Formats: sequence, C-alpha cells, structure tokens
Amino acid sequence: MTDDFLRAGVIGWPVAHSKSPRLHGFWLKRHGVAGSYEAVAARPEDFEQTVRRLIAQGWRGANVTIPHKESALRMAEIVSDRAAAIGAANTLVFTPGGAIEADNTDGFGFIENLAQSAGDRWRSEGEALVLGAGGAARAIVWSLLERGAARVVIANRTRERADALAAEMGARAVVVDWSDFHDPLRSADLIVNTTSLGMEGRPPLEISFASAKSTAVATDIVYVPLMTPFLESARSAGLRVVDGLGMLLHQARPGFEAWFGPEPQVDDEVRRLMLAP
Ligand code: ATR
Repeated sequence: MTDDFLRAGVIGWPVAHSKSPRLHGFWLKRHGVAGSYEAVAARPEDFEQTVRRLIAQGWRGANVTIPHKESALRMAEIVSDRAAAIGAANTLVFTPGGAIEADNTDGFGFIENLAQSAGDRWRSEGEALVLGAGGAARAIVWSLLERGAARVVIANRTRERADALAAEMGARAVVVDWSDFHDPLRSADLIVNTTSLGMEGRPPLEISFASAKSTAVATDIVYVPLMTPFLESARSAGLRVVDGLGMLLHQARPGFEAWFGPEPQVDDEVRRLMLAP
C-alpha cells in the first residue's frame, strides 16, 4: 500500500451494524479517491491501544461511536469547541505528527439536515422543544443555542438529566417536567424527538400536535423507521417534518473532507443507498 492510499474508518463496540462504511465507501467512489473506510471493533479496554495502532499504520483518522465517544475526547491533544462543550467526540483526525484532533459533528449534522430539508420553514432564532436528555440531546441543544435559538425547552422522563443538561447550557435552556411538555409545544417553532421512543421494536412517543403552531417543524433522530409515529402525528397535524436519516448523513461530511479531501454532498442517491437493505 502506498502512502497516497488514504485510510479511515469507524471504531465501535459493537460496530458490525454501522452504516458508515457504506456511506463513506460510496463517497470515496463518487469522488474517485484512492482510499478505504473500514469498521474496527474495539472493546472499551482496548480503545486507546486501537487508536495508537491506527495512527502507527498511517490512518488519517476515524469516527468513533458507542461506547468510545467520551474516551476519544479524553485521548485527544486538540479538541474543537463543540466537542468540548458536548463532552464527547465522534470524529478524530490524526495529524501528520501523530497528534489526535477531536471533533463532535452530531450537532452540525442535525443543523445541516434541518437547513437542507426544512428550508425556510426552519428559523434558527426560534424557540425549540427538545424531548430527551441523552447524548444526542446534548449535541442538539448546544448547536441550537449556538445558532441563536431564543429558548430551548428540554423535557426528559428523568427530570434530573434534563436539569443537569440545562444547567450546563446557560440561561436560554430551560426545563419542564416530562408530563408537561404539551405546554411549551404551543409556542415551539421546532419540536425534536431525541428519545429512543418510536424506534422499531420500541413503543411510540405519545404526543398530540393539535396545539402546535401550524408553521412549526418536527424532527426525529430515530430513522428506523424513517417515518416514526412522532413524525406521522406531526405531519397529520399539518407540520413540516424532517426525518432523522439526514442527520446521520450530514454528520459524516466533516470527517470525510478532513481525511479524504473532497466535500461530499447529501442527495437523493445517497439517501436511497442508505435506505437499501
Ligand atoms: P443517547 O445518549 O444515545 O441519546 P440515552 O442516554 O439512552 O441515549 O437516551 C435515550 C433518551 O430516551 C433519554 O432521554 C431517555 O430518558 P431517560 O433519561 O429518562 O432514560 C429517553 N427514553 C428512553 N425510553 C423512554 C421512555 N419509555 N419514555 C420516555 N423517555 C424515554
């Protein structure tokens, strides 16, 4: 293998289900890049050693997924503002000198997906209601505030997790009880499901959009199924809906560009490829 063959991949445990190799493999071909993107399985206790091995083998970098996102951040010598604020990394770039740069592109992917799919229906300075307070919610709340959201209301089944998240995110992040989320729903311009409810095999998120603004946008991070009960309910109430697949696709763009050079695009062909069995 020559030096100009570019290598990157995704490190996870488990990792076999990851669709990232399919996505990056497609973009590599589309852009005619001589390179590869491979899935690397690493147990939590082997993560650091795995990263060192990939650096020694000349890899350009890697995505990291569950359960390594916090370890990846800790290992890095250079950390982007958004990765530091979110407290986790999903994209590592290995510098020619062997240093590790960590970034978190989940919030970027979320915002880019909204901008592409909701068009001018989504106003970044509006008010948002975020359901859930896990890792994905952290990235989403942070990026909405960074883009100038007037207010982000967080509701989570376990109230303490929402309180802890809001406390870190500043005065424009506020919390309501899970049982009360229909109140802030009335004034929300954007309603986001970051919980795992509605995922194939899980119960749906019970929500009525009857009192929501007709101009509001609803989006879900769940993308299997693509049209979740949450989105179905929003759509039948006349809201604009944005599915969760786009977030997954857009979050991959910064890594691809950093490792391989070209700026990849998310379009219908990519979406169809990712939806294929
Ligand atoms: P991640 O970090 O990937 O976002 P997570 O930490 O498991 O995943 O978070 C999943 C989210 O779905 C949490 O907000 C969780 O609420 P809790 O913090 O109370 O666990 C939410 N969730 C999962 N099952 C739920 C249910 N049956 N009802 C309401 N919320 C639920």
